[in-house]
Amino acid sequence: MNDSSSTETSLLSLLDRARQAALHSYAPYSSFRVGAALRLTSGEIVTGTNVENVSFGLTICAERSALVRAVSQFGPDICVEAVAIANLNAAASPPCGACRQVLAEFILPDAPVVFPAMSGNRTMTFRELLPLAFEMKLK
Ligand code: THU
Repeated sequence: MNDSSSTETSLLSLLDRARQAALHSYAPYSSFRVGAALRLTSGEIVTGTNVENVSFGLTICAERSALVRAVSQFGPDICVEAVAIANLNAAASPPCGACRQVLAEFILPDAPVVFPAMSGNRTMTFRELLPLAFEMKLK
């Protein structure tokens, strides 16, 4: 297997983990069930799902839930090298802006992010998804 096809295979298995995570979604208000799987440079895979709240703004997205879980499990030095997102609604779901900014803290700029697009899955690098993340650089 060459490098790019083994990368595709591992992204497909990451997508599978994201789909599994979406089965645990708590989405009684939107019925939009999302799962995310992160692969860390250590090789660990961490998943998360969206958890909604009756006070809608308190809802946490699948991507942030996976990231919070990864830091809680493996500590603040984690580095995300690939992300897969899936939903059970057969709908497009690129990661929202808030999740991109939160991921920016822990992800390699060239990390592939695979997500459901209008037709089929789409893969973009994190840098393409968020070219200008907020950074705090004080003079
Ligand atoms: N959601 C995610 O899990 N990830 C995103 O990037 C965008 C939206 C969830 C939040 C909410 O539970 C549902 O999808 C509808 O917005």
